[in-house]
Amino acid sequence: MRMRIIRKLNAWFVPMEKLMRKYRPESGRSSDSRIGSGRRRHAAAARIAAVAAALLFAALPAGAQADGDVNVYSARQEVLIRPQLDAFTAATGITVNLVAGNDDALIERMRAEGANSPADVLLTVDVGRLVRAKEAGVLQPAATETLARSIPPQYRDRDGTWFGLAVRGRVIFYAPDRVDEAELDTYEGLADPRWRGRICIRSSGNVYNQSLLASMVAHAGAPAAEQWAAGVVANMARPPQGGDRDQISAVAAGECDVAVANTYYYAGMLNGTPEEREAAGRVRLFWPNQDGRGAHVNISGAAVAAHAPNRDNAVRLIEYLAGAEAQRIYAEAVYEYPVRAGVPVAPILMEFGAFRADAIALDEVAAHQSEALRIFDRVGWR
Ligand SMILES: [Fe+2]
Repeated sequence: MRMRIIRKLNAWFVPMEKLMRKYRPESGRSSDSRIGSGRRRHAAAARIAAVAAALLFAALPAGAQADGDVNVYSARQEVLIRPQLDAFTAATGITVNLVAGNDDALIERMRAEGANSPADVLLTVDVGRLVRAKEAGVLQPAATETLARSIPPQYRDRDGTWFGLAVRGRVIFYAPDRVDEAELDTYEGLADPRWRGRICIRSSGNVYNQSLLASMVAHAGAPAAEQWAAGVVANMARPPQGGDRDQISAVAAGECDVAVANTYYYAGMLNGTPEEREAAGRVRLFWPNQDGRGAHVNISGAAVAAHAPNRDNAVRLIEYLAGAEAQRIYAEAVYEYPVRAGVPVAPILMEFGAFRADAIALDEVAAHQSEALRIFDRVGWR
């Protein structure tokens, strides 16, 4: 029965597959993976101001603030989101002006621009960052019935300030020639001494790891989360370096036996260059905590800017992006899971199988982000 459904969905996906080919991420590299990977967050923070200052002079096109437009600040690459934005324009007649930039720099830019900001919509990744934007005062609530119907409650802010548009898992990857799948079970299990010198995972300056640890604080409390983080540090094969793709590649190269990374990087590698395919082909995906709370998931999302000059258009755009058609296109382009129920996943993700996702509300996870940072510092997870 399940196979039949999958075959049906696959058949359905063929035309979309062709349609989307030219929008495929060339190497699946998302903008959020470039800056800050493997670097200390202090250094990253210091650079943000400089990048933001440079961005301030990257002006929107003339007339961009005019009525009838919507101005989007996007941490996602234009190539990944242009198809949905063009579809929105075709459906509504509203022109979309796009400023693409680094995630943290865009938030800083909105803060610096203040009430004069032309930004209507912020598109960015990870609940940790969306909450950072909310706390920086650059967002405003925009809850509507349509958004409440489209997006499950755990993937949107309880105050209606940010909205998840796609879901990604942060899971375990392993070398099948050196690890028996039966040895894997939970995130917690990665702290077991049997993994001494065998784990690759990126730095604690990265928001993905901060959210993963924050979810463990939320579920088990800070002392248990700290014990886990210390155990993982003791088991690292090397000091944290590189981005998520680098962890998967390191498993393929034999530098470590298991790694933690986001699902879409692996999907991007499987659909990537010959070298990436070769590396990903040596690595398997494992969904952790399937007999318990489920795998840690996070979102890429959208929010309305605090001083949006085109607020109504901003809300219409986010509602459109949460709609069935845009969800199909978006999820396929970024290799993420649609946030909206009933939208089929991309064929490559079907190969990863069905999984149980942690159902905790992501604003509850984000509430423990700063505790997670303190834990990382205490256990020496650089
Ligand atoms: Fe990423």
